[in-house]
Amino acid sequence: MALVEFDKETCTKCGACAAICSAGIIYYRKNSYPRLFPGTADICLRCGHCVAVCPTDSVIHQELSLEKCLPIDKKLGVTFGQVAQLIKSRRSIREFQDKPVSKDIIERIIDVARYAPTGHNNQEVRWLVVNDRQKMKELATVGADWMRWTAKNVPGMAEMLVDPIKRLDAGYDVFLRDAPALVAAYAEKDDPIAATDCAIALGYFDLAANTLGLGCCWAGFFYFAAGAFPAMIKSVALPEGMACYGALMLGYPKYKYQRIPPRKPARIIYRQ
Ligand SMILES: Cc1cc2nc3c(=O)[nH]c(=O)nc-3n(C[C@H](O)[C@H](O)[C@H](O)COP(=O)(O)O)c2cc1C
Repeated sequence: MALVEFDKETCTKCGACAAICSAGIIYYRKNSYPRLFPGTADICLRCGHCVAVCPTDSVIHQELSLEKCLPIDKKLGVTFGQVAQLIKSRRSIREFQDKPVSKDIIERIIDVARYAPTGHNNQEVRWLVVNDRQKMKELATVGADWMRWTAKNVPGMAEMLVDPIKRLDAGYDVFLRDAPALVAAYAEKDDPIAATDCAIALGYFDLAANTLGLGCCWAGFFYFAAGAFPAMIKSVALPEGMACYGALMLGYPKYKYQRIPPRKPARIIYRQ
């Protein structure tokens, strides 16, 4: 059986499956049934577009059955206005309630974020979750050491860290903001597209988390430390060959925002 077949009883010969196939492996001529170019099973990205676009459920993909490709619930469509407000009202949260974030809710959000696009449909983004108070404290302590070490040893960083270190010295957790949880995205060290894939996935996570009453803040300091500071690398303990490409602090916001602060106007250039 070929990797992708087409049900001739129901296929309307519209050609949509061939038109949208990103690998271009579905052959189609007007008024004829589509078919898979022979010997192209390895080229298929397993993106599922052919199954998802077919209006008559006529594409039979051996690895992406109709049962696996859930129908889109049209009643749940969102408006531009709703998405715009979600994106614009999302804030970086740095003050959290003293309330744990359950594994269940984090997994619910990851289950959405894993649908973010990935280069070549690789889906190689992995997730590191810390929602244990003790472990968060350990990371914050190692992070504080990283900040002090970096200020002394990394040229160009000292100035940027003067004020954060003053706040650290005053007992404030500038590194992880006393967040109850951290979610990091990691992937193969030498994957050239992983940084982009992970950033998109975390962006999706951030937005989805907001719809459930949670708030996030990009953990830039953590990201630097996790890639360079031996004590942090040890504490994070990613599997061999993997690198952290970004992380979010996560928790229930202590304060509610009432307004949307302005941002720079979009700088756009056009070419003709
Ligand atoms: C890549 C990246 C790294 C960041 N790292 C930190 C960080 O380590 N600590 C922090 O408090 N905020 C961090 N932020 C949050 C920014 O300061 C914040 O996005 C910016 O001030 C705009 O605020 P808004 O996100 O509420 O619009 C980071 C943001 C990004 C995109």
